[in-house]
Parts: sequence; structure tokens; C-alpha cells
Amino acid sequence: MNLLCYVQKFHRDLPETTVFAYGISKEAATVPGPTIEALQGVPTHITWENYLPKSHILPWDATVPTAISKHGGVPTVVHLHAGVHPPKFDGSAFAWFTNKFNETGPAWTIPTYTYPNVQHAGNLWYHDHALGLTRVNLLAGLIGAYVIRNPAVESKLNLPSGSEFDQHLVVMDRSFRKDGSLCMNSTGDNPSIHPQWQPEYFGEAIVVNGKAWPFLKVQRQKYRFRIINASNARYFNFSLSNGLKFTHVGSDCSYLSKPVTTESFIMAPSEIADVIIDFSTSLTNEAVLLNNASYPYPTGDPVNNLNSKVMKFEISPNKPTKPDNSLIPKTLVNYQAATIKGASKTRYIVMYEYLSSTGLPTHLYINGKRLEDPATETPKSGSTEIWEVINLTADNHPLHLHLATFQAIKISELENIDEFKACMSKKNDAVACNVADHATGKLAIIPDYEKTWKNSVKIMPGYQTTVVVKFNLVENGAPYPFDATAEPGYVYHCHILDHEDNAMIRPLKLVK
Ligand code: C2O
Ligand code: CU
Repeated sequence: MNLLCYVQKFHRDLPETTVFAYGISKEAATVPGPTIEALQGVPTHITWENYLPKSHILPWDATVPTAISKHGGVPTVVHLHAGVHPPKFDGSAFAWFTNKFNETGPAWTIPTYTYPNVQHAGNLWYHDHALGLTRVNLLAGLIGAYVIRNPAVESKLNLPSGSEFDQHLVVMDRSFRKDGSLCMNSTGDNPSIHPQWQPEYFGEAIVVNGKAWPFLKVQRQKYRFRIINASNARYFNFSLSNGLKFTHVGSDCSYLSKPVTTESFIMAPSEIADVIIDFSTSLTNEAVLLNNASYPYPTGDPVNNLNSKVMKFEISPNKPTKPDNSLIPKTLVNYQAATIKGASKTRYIVMYEYLSSTGLPTHLYINGKRLEDPATETPKSGSTEIWEVINLTADNHPLHLHLATFQAIKISELENIDEFKACMSKKNDAVACNVADHATGKLAIIPDYEKTWKNSVKIMPGYQTTVVVKFNLVENGAPYPFDATAEPGYVYHCHILDHEDNAMIRPLKLVK
């Protein structure tokens, strides 16, 4: 598949926009890129080739750790988000390459990646992961959906199926200039330190499947939507204007054990919701998908007239053309339960924000360390661990681990947090600062639609989130049929892309 610079029309009233896009040819390149369909157990081989131009279409910042080509060209590398695959196919931030492989990063090895698709059926996505350029390369359009199916298991569920009734909604926020070009700040909030980087990108237009505020004609029947939040930093709190409900059947790469009905639900960047909407019960002929998540989440600005609307469903007043034989079953798929039993290690992961003397963020770190610092998270291949994730910032952060699946089982408020922070700023060690004596406050609720094995977990500010992490996804519990301990290893990071780039990302090195 090729990475190309081409033009796309995001809205009837906007001129064409220059984007970076995935496609098998220039004519077939789109934002989002083509949806890749895979079958469980059948490997997919993809040769990723770079035909991007000499210079970037968006401003970037050489003062954050960044892949920089010496001879011009846009560094890129592709990561299959939620994929279970050997490290050399993981799209390491250091495995970048420029146009025609003219230049390659230090971890680059081969142009063809093989995704074994050994994991259970579920929703994944692919996107750029180049060092320090992830936020701009995704913003430019390097995003696409990926599904692993297992017809033997899934056909029994009898959920809505086929390309009309089982669709992806890839949602992201973007700002455009009058000439149609993508608009990203060229000056940072704290330019004497970082000329361009700012802590969060927010766009005013909401784009779904490459169109700003689109509409979709639907029949009066059930539809399955696999919703991917592909925004840099925007959280969504979705609801439907006419009161229709969502029935969640899955989250990220996994099914739920039974369907969960909601009137609204929250999605952080990189999270995936797998929901059924039953339009047969609609009292109106239209339903607007709405958003009311503040930005940054949860303490930022409230939504406005533009970013509070996502898309519109235009519901046919007539009976469906064919009877709807799909069902919402009582039970879905059962995986191993998430428990602390059998966990071989507890780790403490602390999220910080560093401020300059003027009070503006200069960068964010995990455990006070950078990506370039040696790996401290070195789990055994095939093991289960407890990660106590402590958020000392004011924002929610989506924690994402490569290779692993995980779920939150407890979210405890930190009491006397200022005392804890003061200790951490001296000792930088959560155990030495008696975190257990602080994580004693009120418990936050984990929504039922998140109670399954996930690839991103929301980490609440001022809380400690207890996460069960499995470095093994194969359903029978056997280790992966490949060497997960090889170079260049994996990473874990915050999936607010502007945080990931500076520098809320750490190596994850599996050991035997
Ligand atoms: Cu979705 Cu490390 O990425
Ligand atoms: Cu973050």
C-alpha cells in the first residue's frame, strides 16, 4: 500500500484539501485509507511504500524528539493499532522511512510487514507512528480501519452484517482554511521552548469517513457501527438527538460478554466503540449524532455550535427493502476474566506534566522518563501484570500499550494529592511516596461498555487506575507463536498524539 499526497473534498462548500493518504494507487488513496479486512489465523502481508512529497504539508517542531530526514522527505512508518505481531512489524517510531526508502530510521529493517492475525475477531486501525511526527502525519490523513473477522464465531451472533448494515465511522476533528487547506497552528503555546508544539490540537469541524458533518441515509432497521475516534486530542461524548439508544457489542479489539445499552458514551482518542443503532424504533425521520465532551477533557471548554454536531442519519420513512433478520443476542463472547489473580508483577506508572516558569506545559512524561531512556517496563512474554496508573495532571489521558490487551478494574481517587506530588517531585518513586496510602479516596465507576479487553484505557486526572494487563492475547492462553522479545521491542504511550510526540511514550520490552 502506498502513502501519497493527494487532494480530497471534505465538504461541498470547501475547496479541495491537500492531504496525506493511504491507497493502493493515487486514484484509490483516501482519508481514511482503505479498510483492510482480515480473517483470524490468515496472515496479511503489506508492503508500505512512501510517495510523500519532499516537505510536510503541516508545520512540525524539531525541538521535540523527531525523525528528521537529511535530504528532504517526510518520514513515516505504519503501526497496526491493537495488532498482535512481532516487534519488527510493529512500526517502531525509529523504523521510519522516506520516499522510496531514500533514508531510513535506525530501527528500520524491511518494507513488507506480516500481520499474523492470530488474535480473536475485533476492530483495529492502522496509522502513522514516526518519531515526533505522529500528530502531524495523522492530522494530514494517515489513518485507516482494519478488521479481523472470524465467520465461524461471528455468524452465530447474527448481528447486522454486510457492507450496508455493518459500517465503520472514522471520526476526527479538523480545522480548514478558506482555501480548503488543513489548518494547524504554526506557533506553539510556549514558543521560546517549542516553536510549534502545543499540548493539544483541536479542530472545529467534525469529519466522519472523510466528510465534514456528513449525512447517511439509513433504512428503518438495525445497523452496526464500528466507531473509531481518530482525533489527535478530542474526546467525544456521543448521543442521538431523537433519544435513540446505542447497544454496545464490543470495545476496541474485543466483544463484550453481553450487550450494553446506553444513551451516551465517552470515547478518548484511539478508542473504538462497536454499537448497534436500531432505527426501526425511531419516532422521527432524522437523528443527529451529537457530542458534548469538553476539550481538553474533562475540564476544558464546552462544545460549541460546530463541534457539538458530528453527523446526521436520514431515516427512511418506509419499511426496509428486505426484512431485518439480524438480532441483538443476549450474550456475546466470553474471554478470560480480568483479575489480579495470577498477575506476576505490579508496576507503578505515573503521568506528569512539566510546566515552564510561565506555567505553560513544556512536555509530558511517564515516570519522569523519555522514550530514549532504557526500558523499565520489561514484562515476561505471556504474563499478566497489574499496572497502577497514577495521573497527576489535570487532563484525562488514554493509555495505550502495543501488543497487550488490558482493562481497568478499579479507579480510586488520590487523597492528599499535593503531599503525594511534593514527595514525587523529590523521590520520583510512587512506592517510596506511599501511593497506597493516597489511593484511598472515592471509587469512580467503570462503565459496562468498557468491561472487556481493550487497547486504550482512559486514565482519570487525580486518580489511580488499576489495570490488568495481559501480554498474551491468544484465546486459549498460549504464548504468541512468534518471538515478542526481539528488537526493537514495543512501546506504550498516551494516545493524545500531541502528548505522545512530547514525550508521553516509553519503551515496552518483553523478556523470556
Ligand atoms: Cu494507535 Cu502507538 O498507537
Ligand atoms: Cu496524554
